[in-house]
Amino acid sequence: MYDNAVSYVHDVLSRALGMGSVAIDATVGNGWDTAFMAELVGSSGVVYGFDIQQLALDVTRTRTNNLNADVRLFRTGHEEMLTCIDTAHLGKVNAITFNLGYLPGGDEHITTVAETTRRGLDQARAALAPDGVLTVVCYRHAEGETELAMVRDFLSTWPQQRYTVVEVDFVNQVNKPPVVFVVSGRAVQPNTLRI
Ligand SMILES: C[S@@+](CC[C@H](N)C(=O)[O-])C[C@H]1O[C@@H](n2cnc3c(N)ncnc32)[C@H](O)[C@@H]1O
Repeated sequence: MYDNAVSYVHDVLSRALGMGSVAIDATVGNGWDTAFMAELVGSSGVVYGFDIQQLALDVTRTRTNNLNADVRLFRTGHEEMLTCIDTAHLGKVNAITFNLGYLPGGDEHITTVAETTRRGLDQARAALAPDGVLTVVCYRHAEGETELAMVRDFLSTWPQQRYTVVEVDFVNQVNKPPVVFVVSGRAVQPNTLRI
């Protein structure tokens, strides 16, 4: 059912997104996640995509060109995402995904780093709808371990009244498999529920 981190994340995203939804791919890379989300939201939805490498944006544009979807790509770090998304979408994004690390097949030295990833997550929090979903895939190369620790520490500080934060680890897989975090917004505050 869940072979790896990507299939797990795609299952989460497919539950969070439907026709007309708004989504953000914070690290487009080769565009697989962007294309997956573009198919889910259809022509009435929007997918924003961010990457610092032109190569990634070019590959992603080619991958999504034939999809009937509004895919808006920015050669901008995710730590600046709030300056790029439509103000009408602020606080209304249904799903945001971060797939950290370097571009597969590209320059392994150009990678996400903890400091900007933290700022990106902070901006994602502001962009997310109250019942939105955020996923983060963390790898365990050298910088990745630092990032993983930062992501865990940072997400641990998000208030449990507003967010449920889950960490998923593929415990029987060899070669340091990635770790996935899933943040679900809790639209209804538990203390406002009437029984
Ligand atoms: C593991 S890849 C993403 C894989 C991608 N989601 C896919 O479906 O193929 C990570 C990407 O993050 C990009 N990146 C690095 N720093 C970034 C930043 N500050 N903001 C946005 N993207 C960044 C890299 O250029 C790289 O393409």
